[in-house]
Parts: sequence; structure tokens; C-alpha cells
Amino acid sequence: MDRLVIEGGKRLIGEVEISGAKNSTLPILAATLLADESSVIDGVPDLADVNTMIKLLRALGVEAEQEKSLLKVEAKSLVPLAPYELVSQMRAGICVLGPLLAKLGQAKVSLPGGCVIGPRPIDLHIKGLKALGAEIEIVHGYIEAKVPPGKRLRGTKIHLGGAFGSSVLATANVIMAAVLAEGETIIENAACEPEVADLANFLVRMGANVEGQGTPLIKIRGVNRLHGARHTIIPDRIETGTYMIAAAITRGEVLIKDAYWGHVTAVAEKLREIGVTVEDRHDGIYVKADPDQTLRSVDVTAFPYPGFPTDMQAQITALLAVTEGVSVVTEKIYPDRFIHVSELARMGAQVIPDHGRVIIKGVPQLTGAQVMASDLRASAALVLAGLVAEGRTMISRVYHLDRGYERLEEKLTRLGARIWRESDKKKPVENREPMEVKVG
Ligand code: EPU
Repeated sequence: MDRLVIEGGKRLIGEVEISGAKNSTLPILAATLLADESSVIDGVPDLADVNTMIKLLRALGVEAEQEKSLLKVEAKSLVPLAPYELVSQMRAGICVLGPLLAKLGQAKVSLPGGCVIGPRPIDLHIKGLKALGAEIEIVHGYIEAKVPPGKRLRGTKIHLGGAFGSSVLATANVIMAAVLAEGETIIENAACEPEVADLANFLVRMGANVEGQGTPLIKIRGVNRLHGARHTIIPDRIETGTYMIAAAITRGEVLIKDAYWGHVTAVAEKLREIGVTVEDRHDGIYVKADPDQTLRSVDVTAFPYPGFPTDMQAQITALLAVTEGVSVVTEKIYPDRFIHVSELARMGAQVIPDHGRVIIKGVPQLTGAQVMASDLRASAALVLAGLVAEGRTMISRVYHLDRGYERLEEKLTRLGARIWRESDKKKPVENREPMEVKVG
């Protein structure tokens, strides 16, 4: 198993390029199932989750050819079964449910399983698809969905709000089913995340009739068929935000190229409140913090877009751990998403979890330590802490990072970080860590 080693204490200086968004790519790849011809997707990041999605598409009968970030896919002769072995590796596997149901009139998709960031129910996916007329049962760990014989999915009004607000992938699933349904579908309390809008824009290129993407009210008028299309994935706003914090935490100066300002304003505003310089420039997002500058503590609440993203909550916690004063970070989407806190404490952070929030007393210096990555964004927080810590930090279970950060060590090294990967080949059997479910 690989681990990352970081020698902390270097200011990050230079330019970094942002990759295509993981959370756009995954549903957009699922949406290619809906077309009668091939589609070409550009800006596809080389990530473990994306590779799992491509494997899943192939298992469903899709032909996929890839050249660097360009992916050509064609849904030739589809089979409606998404197996446990692939869907259990990645929650986004569930977004093949809507397209398979719409295209084939039936789908059998494994339940995505448990999760270290907290419960990840699928009731909203099921509610939305049932409202469109699907019959759905959970049998032996699989979601079995079908359109009753002789019928089509039919448009209706669907309220997709849950106890924790809107749902990104449930909105994606319902849109993908509704584009081929009969009549008009109105989704109320739709997720407004840019990745949902990116998916809808791709569907429009395929001939779908979708309006209101990026707002809580989405209207879809069903069409009989969709054709292939060409699309470029939007830049990853979470990768962008992570490099913004990398610049801030190391008191560095970084220009983040190919980033989209409009998608990271909540993060930019928080960094400005902390005292970091953040500018929207014509060639990218510029972030600077001086080495002798005192940064201020702030309170942050993670909630659905356009709020501060839950996928940036762990990273800002790492920054606030070395920011003078007391900060409170509250999590409104996944109240249990605080596993990184105990690992940050191993590095000297003064962080106290407290029922859906964490209270942070900034310390002048973190110290390098052996820590364990528990999920994708928690791992990113440990990398950020390692960049500023005194001495050496070793992060195990680094495969979590490979799920969402393309060429992380290479990009950080170019900015001046001392970071490298080591392989631990001779691992004794009795020390094996328990198997865990991957999330995202
Ligand atoms: N929820 C329900 N019922 C549902 C679905 C969700 O109650 O049927 C709840 C969840 O438990 C949670 C809230 O609604 O409290 C939001 O969950 P959502 O469905 O929006 O999450 P998701 O669509 O499964 C995507 C991202 C996550 C990101 C969340 C929130 C992908 C592949 N994943 O997940 O990304 O945290 O939206 O923004 O798009 C990551 O990239 O690290 C990651 C975890």
C-alpha cells in the first residue's frame, strides 16, 4: 500500500492547472448511456473513481476509448445490471440507475453501501424515479426498477428536498430519467451545484430539453431520443479550493489556472475574511498570504451550493488549525464528516468535535506525524496540514486521494512542496488494516 511523505515548511509559489471536475465527469459518463450514438467527452480527469465508472460502463455494454483526457463512448448493446463489485467501490455508481431505466425500461443496480462520512441514504433517488412511474423494489442488496409493461416514464412535479437539503446525485438521476419521459417534469428543491448544471448542459447538447439548471427549479420536457454529443467538463471547484487553501496555509503565492471564479466564491470570501489575498484575475485565481501575516479565525458552515461546500470542510479545518483564535466549523450536510479531526490532533491541532461541528483553537505550529487517510477530502486536509507542519508527515491509505486529485504530488512539487510517494511492499499479513468501503 502506498503512502505519501511530506517534508513541511515550504511556501508554495507558482502556477497550478486545475483538472476537469470529478463530480461532473461521473454523472456525465452515466448520461452517455442515454444516447443512440457515440459521445466525446473532453477534460476527463485521470482518477480512480473515473476509471471505476468507465469499468462500470463497459460492464453495461458501452465501448469506451480513451486518449489522455479525451474519452469516446458509445452505448452499443446495453445490459441493465450494475454489479455490486463496481457500484460498491463508488457511490456515484448509482447514477446509472436513471439512464438505464429511461433507456431500457429496467435496471438492476447494486445499493452503493455504507460510508465513512456518515449515512448516505437513497430515498430521494427512489422517490423521484417512482414519481416518474417506475416500480422499484430493494431485493438482495440491489435496487430493481422497471417501467410497467406497455408504459413509458411520465413527467410530473417532484419535490426532491430531504432532511439535509437537496441531493446532488438524486437530482442527476431524476433529470437523466426525465429527459426521455413523456411530458413535462418539474423538479423542486433541485440541487444547484455546478456539476448538476454541467450534466444538464451536456444533456441539452444531446437534444434534451432542460431549463433552470443551476437553480432549485428545473423543468424538463421529455423527448423520444437523444443523440451523441461533444462536451468539455467544467474545472474541478473542489480541487481549485484545495489549492487555494494550500497557498494560504503555506503563506504562499499561487495562480490557479483554468479555475472558474463563479464556482468558488464561498471559499474565496472565507479566505478573505481570514485575511488571505484572493483575486479573480483574467488568467486564473490568485491567492497570496505573507509569511509574517496574522490570519484571523472565522466561523464556517458547510451547506449546499452556493454555500461553503462540504467537500472543502476538512481542508478549511486544517487551515484554521494554524490560524490564531478560536474558529467553529459546522457541517450541515454530513454531520458525522469529522474523521480527519482526530488525525489533525495527532499533528498537534487543537480541535474538538462537538455534535456536527468542530471547535478549533489555532496553534502557531503543527508537527509532522504518521497519520491515516480515511476518505478523499479528509486526506486532502492531512496533505495541507503536512505542507505546513514542522518535520515529516506520512499519510497512509493514500488511495483515497487518487480518487479525486489528479497528479497531486506532481502539481504540489511544481509549486515547491517536498512531497513524494513511497510503497510499503513488505506488509505483514497480521497487520493488515480492515477492509473499508470507499465513498464519494
Ligand atoms: N440524502 C438523503 N437522501 C438521499 C440522498 C441524499 O437524505 O436519497 C442526504 C445525504 O445523506 C446528505 C445530503 O442529502 O446529508 C446530501 O447528499 P447528496 O445526495 O447531495 O450527496 P451525493 O449526491 O451522494 C455528491 C458528491 C459528494 C458531495 C455531496 C454533497 C458526487 C459523486 N458526490 O454526493 O462528493 O459531498 O454531493 O455536495 O457527486 C466528494 O467528492 O468527496 C464527495 C463526497
